[in-house]
Amino acid sequence: MKVLMLNGSSKPNGNTYRSLYEAGEQLKREGIDYEIFQIGGKPLRDCIGCGQCSEKGCVFSDDAVNEFIAKAKEADGFIFGTPVYYAHPSGRIISFLDRVFYSSGSVFAFKPGAAVAVARRGGNSASLDVLNKYFGISQMPVAGSTYWNLVHGRLPGEAELDEEGLRTMRNLARNMAWMLKCFAAGKGNGVSLPETERGEMTNFIR
Ligand SMILES: Cc1cc2nc3c(=O)[nH]c(=O)nc-3n(C[C@H](O)[C@H](O)[C@H](O)COP(=O)(O)O)c2cc1C
Repeated sequence: MKVLMLNGSSKPNGNTYRSLYEAGEQLKREGIDYEIFQIGGKPLRDCIGCGQCSEKGCVFSDDAVNEFIAKAKEADGFIFGTPVYYAHPSGRIISFLDRVFYSSGSVFAFKPGAAVAVARRGGNSASLDVLNKYFGISQMPVAGSTYWNLVHGRLPGEAELDEEGLRTMRNLARNMAWMLKCFAAGKGNGVSLPETERGEMTNFIR
């Protein structure tokens, strides 16, 4: 089993990476593989709502969104990490995830997810609220920890000093590993995925 993580910072070795790494190494100790996908610092498109998403994902192919979707199809769980910018997730992780989920939300259904927010001082829980919404609308169970999934640090490396934050990451990983094992055991014992009722979208106008 494998957990795919997303580092929503353009810094490949910053505090967000350090936090995800802490969770990843704990996952490994629990027998679960992990990969940290770097969102990188190159230009990244927003979703333009063209509605042309296809089986292969988003129509734009000049960044890593479709590469991430291909990996997500093979993954069993997800942890999305973001630095906090002005009390919200990084603009690039929102642009990225809007396109991932709008084109390929079904890829994530029934797979556990968790969000992690990393800041110097404040705005973490508001950032978590934003990222957790991708899970809620996509039929994803959410893994929790012993505190909200946040780590503090400003300059790259400072996350190392946040003992409670890193402990929260390790407990998050333990809880996600447990969920993954429970789901696999359920599947192995004939528990099938729930049916999903579909219908007309009624929007606001009846
Ligand atoms: C544009 C910008 C806005 C920021 N806004 C906040 C903020 O609202 N609250 C906060 O505590 N830290 C804020 N920070 C600090 C970062 O969240 C912090 O340095 C974090 O550790 C960066 O993670 P990284 O090393 O993974 O990029 C901001 C940093 C930048 C560049």
